[in-house]
Amino acid sequence: ACGARSRVRTENEVRASLPYRKADGHKGTYGKGLVIGGSEQMPGAVSLTTRAALRTGIGLVTAALPASITATVTGTATEATCLPLQSNQGEMISESLTGLDLSSYDGAAIGPGMGRSHPLSFSRIFSGFDGLVVIDADGLYHLAEELNAWRDGRGGPTVITPHPGEMARLTGKTIEDVEKNRFSLSRQFASEYKMTVVLKGAYTIVTTPDGRQWVNPTGNPGLAKGGSGDTLTGMILAAGLQTDDFLDGVLNAVYIHGLAADQLIHERDEASITASDVIEQLPFALASLR
Ligand code: APR
Ligand code: MG
Repeated sequence: ACGARSRVRTENEVRASLPYRKADGHKGTYGKGLVIGGSEQMPGAVSLTTRAALRTGIGLVTAALPASITATVTGTATEATCLPLQSNQGEMISESLTGLDLSSYDGAAIGPGMGRSHPLSFSRIFSGFDGLVVIDADGLYHLAEELNAWRDGRGGPTVITPHPGEMARLTGKTIEDVEKNRFSLSRQFASEYKMTVVLKGAYTIVTTPDGRQWVNPTGNPGLAKGGSGDTLTGMILAAGLQTDDFLDGVLNAVYIHGLAADQLIHERDEASITASDVIEQLPFALASLR
């Protein structure tokens, strides 16, 4: 039956695979990540993703974003560097993406807040890149338009983080179908496109291309608020670059994102917590796992 081969990610597994800072480590040791996203309509999303990556321990993070929102993003993500790109009506254009040189990055996350006004193709910029690629939010909208170009997989791992609505669009199903068949649809998609699928929602399911599945036990409805997903994306990028097997990082990021929200609602109202609160809780959530 669907989900018969799935297991729950345990706290002990997260603890055992949590990366340590080496005494002689330097910023290059902990990953150099590129976050591609943002638009004039949604400057906050790329800021959240970038800040979440920093709070999850990434060594260096660069935000590739419309030049017009650079000051907004660096104003909130002080530690990030920027790659200002050309935009049209507040959104990045395809030419600026195809011109990106990824060779100096260990991984990239693409999509948060990038908008859907212009067609964007990024299968080509990633095809020659063997680092980790995380695709979320509007990035999944653009991915759905060129899925066939991704069918043969890439040199490096690709992780997608759809919520049920995004999964419905990727698979051509209704949201109801997705909700009813979360395990089987994830497994089919992961296998067909050779991607690791993080199907979000209460009890997020992580599925590998070879069909292994984990259910996440942490998190609460306080996370049902704009920005939570953008935060998770930055955490996945950062954690995936710090574990020997990127999959441990993906599973840990999903677990710790929920754990931080669970810790917050001990003393605060569930309805009131924000994605920024979750990011600021990460140092404490991580410390509680040491
Ligand atoms: N219990 C546990 N976790 C939850 C719950 C819940 N009841 N509700 C939401 N979450 C978690 C999800 O598992 C996921 O990690 O919160 C996160 C929500 O992510 P998204 O659905 O992507 O939400 P968000 O990024 O805030 O959405 C903002 O981005 O993806 C687009 O179309 C989307 O416009 C929307 C925008
Ligand atoms: Mg989202």
